[in-house]
Amino acid sequence: GKGEYDHYMRKEIHSQPTSLANTIEGRVTDGEIELAEFPAGTFADVDDVQFVACGTSYHAAMYGEWLLREADVRTAVHRASEYESSAGPIDERTLVVAVTQSGETADTLAAVRSANARGARTVAVTNVVGSTAARETDDALYIRAGPEIGVAATKTFSSQSVTLALLTQRIAADIPDAQPIDDLDAMLETLSDLPEQVETVVETSRAADLAERYLESRAFFFIGRGLGHAVALEGALKFKEITYEHAEGFTAGELKHGPLALVTEATPVFSVFTGGGDEAVQTNATEAQSRGAPIVTVAPEDHPAVESGDAHLSIPDTHPVWAGLLANVQLQLLSYHAANELGRPIDKPRNLAKSVTVE
Ligand code: F6R
Repeated sequence: GKGEYDHYMRKEIHSQPTSLANTIEGRVTDGEIELAEFPAGTFADVDDVQFVACGTSYHAAMYGEWLLREADVRTAVHRASEYESSAGPIDERTLVVAVTQSGETADTLAAVRSANARGARTVAVTNVVGSTAARETDDALYIRAGPEIGVAATKTFSSQSVTLALLTQRIAADIPDAQPIDDLDAMLETLSDLPEQVETVVETSRAADLAERYLESRAFFFIGRGLGHAVALEGALKFKEITYEHAEGFTAGELKHGPLALVTEATPVFSVFTGGGDEAVQTNATEAQSRGAPIVTVAPEDHPAVESGDAHLSIPDTHPVWAGLLANVQLQLLSYHAANELGRPIDKPRNLAKSVTVE
């Protein structure tokens, strides 16, 4: 049940310290990634990696793609619904990673079937043990987030992103020409602090105040670069899904190539700072601010961008790879509180289903 919470979504946001701890448990030992499903050498024959996913899972897959690219692995991320035409050349040295919470999303299953038929090796990264995606791929890697009832995916995004971060470094370690990311040791060390840091965000968040302050806005924009772009897209998807307000996510640099025409004092711009490309994000945020838009920085307390912003959602200091996940928790809370103020049916938004079983 929902216990002390009014909505499953709230409960699921608050349960992330526990769900993340479950995701990580036993998978990092003495500074080494250990995935029981994939012993060292499993991916030695892989030349390229394609991610396929929809919606929130696509944003988690962007994490995977970004991390593999950093590791010098040939990789791409595809919207599952476009995979038939976007996949390009595939063979038995292609690894296709389907990211799907439910394991039942029709578009994602169609992509898996297409990849299987073309001889690729397939892996499902999923929450549901024994789901169709788990059964129809060569291997499944479970994210262990526990059941998610709210239609809006929250804790499963965090657990998918962490699982993919570990999987990508396992893949990179096996591929002869790949380079595990520079500061892998620091990344793995700070991962153990992530559940506690999520707890801090949940307990100290001022997202409810900001949701109230900006509720009358005409539209809500979210910007970021690199991993922060995935978070911006996810922030906007969550916001539109449960508030029914117009929200959009952009790469920060793209704002000036069109969307800036929409920016006014009635369009707050939530700017995600992850510690990668931050100066450019700040420049882009300033461009919006000079057109009157309130800037909400999602960044560590002592970040240089905070001072010039109009409002701030704080995240603890961590490795750049995890910073976006903390920022995302703030944005989950923002969406939740805005939807709550507007009296929306948060756990069951109109027109949406928890798993979309039609193509
Ligand atoms: C957004 C949301 C959807 C799903 C998408 C994929 O909050 O829940 O965008 O992420 O339908 O679902 P799965 O991950 O089950 O394949």
